[in-house]
Amino acid sequence: MRFLVGRRALLQSAAATALFGIPLHQAKRALACDAGLPSCDLYKTDPERYWSLLRRLWLLAPDRINLNCGALGCTPIPVLRATVEHLLFAEEYREPDNPWFGYAENARIRATREALARYLNCKLDELALTRNATEGNNVIANGLDIPLGDEVLLTDQEHPGARCAWEQKAARFGIKINVIKLPRPPASNEEMVKLFEDALTERTRVILFSHITWQTGLVLPAKEICALANRRGILTHVDGAHGPGQIKVDLADLGCDFYASNGHKWLMAPKGSGMLFVREPHLERLWAHTVAEDWRNYGLKAYRFSNVGTSNLSVIVGFKAALDFVNAIGREHIYARIHEQARKVRDGLRQLPQIRMLNASTDAHHAGLVSFTTAKGDLGRVAAECDQRRIRIRYWPDEARIRVSTHVFTHDPEINAFLDAVARGLRG
Ligand SMILES: Cc1ncc(COP(=O)(O)O)c(C=O)c1O
Repeated sequence: MRFLVGRRALLQSAAATALFGIPLHQAKRALACDAGLPSCDLYKTDPERYWSLLRRLWLLAPDRINLNCGALGCTPIPVLRATVEHLLFAEEYREPDNPWFGYAENARIRATREALARYLNCKLDELALTRNATEGNNVIANGLDIPLGDEVLLTDQEHPGARCAWEQKAARFGIKINVIKLPRPPASNEEMVKLFEDALTERTRVILFSHITWQTGLVLPAKEICALANRRGILTHVDGAHGPGQIKVDLADLGCDFYASNGHKWLMAPKGSGMLFVREPHLERLWAHTVAEDWRNYGLKAYRFSNVGTSNLSVIVGFKAALDFVNAIGREHIYARIHEQARKVRDGLRQLPQIRMLNASTDAHHAGLVSFTTAKGDLGRVAAECDQRRIRIRYWPDEARIRVSTHVFTHDPEINAFLDAVARGLRG
């Protein structure tokens, strides 16, 4: 994407980068790196080389290993470039003031929504752009009327970004929250669906569950849970913060009523990009969460929930660039690579008898997040070993759990370095 032909040349000069406060080497890489995607033919003939060439498109520091992109995604250079170029273009006041993201839709916002609707297989009318998954989750929980004493069912692995919206609602409006404990790991989809089924009561109005849980990276049988809820006339609120980009998400097929997610984790979009899906029949029953002029302009359909006041249009431009980037690589290739790299982590960990896997008993139950604990309390030593080698992981000391995330930019040597750190940590 190009907004100004001379922009890149300008940024390459030391004077300009000093002006913007961007170190020269970073600015050069971010804005002037011309490395494109490796060819599709290379993917077919030598996929390992393809992935290794692709890695040049991230700014990831060579002296660090990032195995925590599940917390915050890594944005590739073409997406950064589109975002920053728009930011600079807009600051030259070449973009109209209005409409801007947070108010009425403009062509850039529409292009991102259209690309996202195609990606998620939903109707444009059902899709709002938000700033993150938490915002979408709040629109759902705060927007629904739930009578006093009625119930919401959720799992013990819900993220605060979804769970707390329901907890506040319970505190404020006297609804009841019931919680099911997910096995770590579960044996089968049937086992999980039965847990939900057994916990339903006459008063259950909503089920909230994560498409992929943040703590253990468990892929839930979302379609089956939604089918169960639909049969019982119960609404489904899916926290999909870890879905899009990590696994295939087909909202028409999934059958949920509401789905909230972000672009800044697995889709590698700029930080502060999110999305909210509201199934068509529910568009008018949801109260606006952040109330602005268009709060009852039902003609806007789901876009009503994007009217939250001035937000970052450059992020929306970057979001579209991220979807283009993902589509150019091929989503199926990305899902497969994420899974393959996570499987290498799992296979390596399984060689260590002290390790107990938490997220999945079968391949179908995990994607790019691997979660484990140890029989004894030696997880702290593993975390310290990773820290010392600048390997970024997610460590929950209180719950004795480590989570590792893999993506297409995760190299085999990085996985091996991590496995080595685990082995050393366990040896003590
Ligand atoms: C399952 C889950 N839900 C919600 C969130 C919050 O996401 P965001 O920061 O995009 O609001 C996270 C973040 O890690 C998460 O893992």
